[in-house]
Amino acid sequence: MDNGVGMGPEQLTKLFEPFFSTKIGGGGTGLGMSIVKNLVVEKLQGRIAVESTLGQGSCFVITLPRVLLGNVG
Ligand SMILES: Nc1ncnc2c1ncn2[C@@H]1O[C@H](COP(=O)(O)OP(=O)(O)OP(=O)(O)O)[C@@H](O)[C@H]1O
Ligand SMILES: [Mg+2]
Repeated sequence: MDNGVGMGPEQLTKLFEPFFSTKIGGGGTGLGMSIVKNLVVEKLQGRIAVESTLGQGSCFVITLPRVLLGNVG
């Protein structure tokens, strides 16, 4: 949960897209959240959900299994 700038619906749909950034030219690569999603979903076999209101902040909920399935390495 943060109390940052928040995101509108349009931005939320692109949040996890690689190279989507509102900070291009200002030091952002647009890779941060796509890497987070990849780690949570692929490596950790979990889920990530987000809720956000423009101007109010964003809330990320990460759900992780305690035991990983299959061959992990
Ligand atoms: N906590 C947040 N609050 C508001 N907007 C966010 C938040 N996290 C990400 N965003 C929005 O989603 C976009 C993509 O995020 P992402 O982390 O992938 O890239 P970035 O932060 O722009 O670049 P980098 O991660 O390389 O610094 C951001 O540019 C911003 O518009
Ligand atoms: Mg980022």
